Amino acid sequence: MLTGRKVLLIIGGGIAAYKSLELIRRLQDRGATVVPVLTRAAAEFVTPLSVSALAGQKVFTDLFDLTDEAEMGHIELSRAADLVVVAPATADLMAKMAQGLANDLASTLLMATDKRVLIAPAMNVRMWEHPATQRNLATLNGDGILSVGPNEGGMACGEFGSGRMSEPLEIVTAVEAALRDGPLKGRHVLVTSGPTHEPIDPVRYIANRSSGAQGSAIARALLSLGAEVTFVTGPASAPRPAGAHVVEVETARQMADAVDQALPADAAVCAAAVADWHVVGASDKKMKKDGSGEMPPLNFAENPDILKTVSNAAARPKLVVGFAAETDDVIRHATEKRARKGCDWILANDVRPETGIMGGSENAITLISAEGAEEWPRMSKEQAAAKLAARIAEALG
Ligand code: C5P
Repeated sequence: MLTGRKVLLIIGGGIAAYKSLELIRRLQDRGATVVPVLTRAAAEFVTPLSVSALAGQKVFTDLFDLTDEAEMGHIELSRAADLVVVAPATADLMAKMAQGLANDLASTLLMATDKRVLIAPAMNVRMWEHPATQRNLATLNGDGILSVGPNEGGMACGEFGSGRMSEPLEIVTAVEAALRDGPLKGRHVLVTSGPTHEPIDPVRYIANRSSGAQGSAIARALLSLGAEVTFVTGPASAPRPAGAHVVEVETARQMADAVDQALPADAAVCAAAVADWHVVGASDKKMKKDGSGEMPPLNFAENPDILKTVSNAAARPKLVVGFAAETDDVIRHATEKRARKGCDWILANDVRPETGIMGGSENAITLISAEGAEEWPRMSKEQAAAKLAARIAEALG
């Protein structure tokens, strides 16, 4: 619930602005007050009258409105909310935010605020994929700006791809996560998730069956306890946790770099199924059959062990948690793994195909710590995540 919370909603100028009308309603359903701000371009897509009527609030549009300034200055406006939400966050607004421009009311509020900011990007797929937008996103993430979406799908412009604004309820979930007061409030937790892809050539790669479901669920559970979460994920099918700083990577080496950049953290949960090896000298051209009947040999080198590196880092998180997916002698292997990696806890699970755990919706975990092995009953990945998040909160105190 968002009872008593105030959200400053900056509506950017894009066709997805129509969804922001629905967003106002859904935020109000949760008890929030929404103070709307329209950019000049947004007013071409939705009228100030509809926004103001739905919000039940005055809508702010202009930096140089003398009446507005007399009633509530723009600096005060930027601080009076508990959270600033930008939806839709257009490519232009993101660029302004990344550069620190302040030439209209929306961008000035974003510069002046002392509150957390959550953006819901929405734009054409090419604009989203453009290196400038991706660079701006990385800058904004680095500045601690939260983001939700975009989603993949058909677009108003007729194209298909990534760039659709998240649905109102997904944005509400991200708002709730950003505002939640919980035992992990003020704590930064790093979560790795999903598989890694190790290229053989530009079209082929080596991967594993991880869906990223458990890692995503852990990130969501940590967010719901108020943590700030950096979620470093390989190419996984599971939805990204709304409200986390999401860093998408492909290979183990990229994941190791992203993790290194995400430190310091109070805790790290390495749930990714990281490939142990990468192909040395992956071909930059698609490999061809040569008629010999044999595949050309591939040379492999070991990938960095991210869990081990984090466990031994100078900026070691107070609590480091790893997973051990095993198919035999689970407890013994996991206990050895805990010692070898230098982490605090290992969550061991039996991933023999007949357990249905890998890629499934349930997990059966044994928590290995300095105190020994503690068996958890089989439960959903969400329940296991909630149990782990609560234990992390307890351990960080
Ligand atoms: O693959 P392995 O059984 O060693 O994985 C155990 C733990 O180590 C998992 O938590 C996994 O996320 C982590 N790991 C890692 N980097 C690797 C290999 C595994 O962080 N290169």
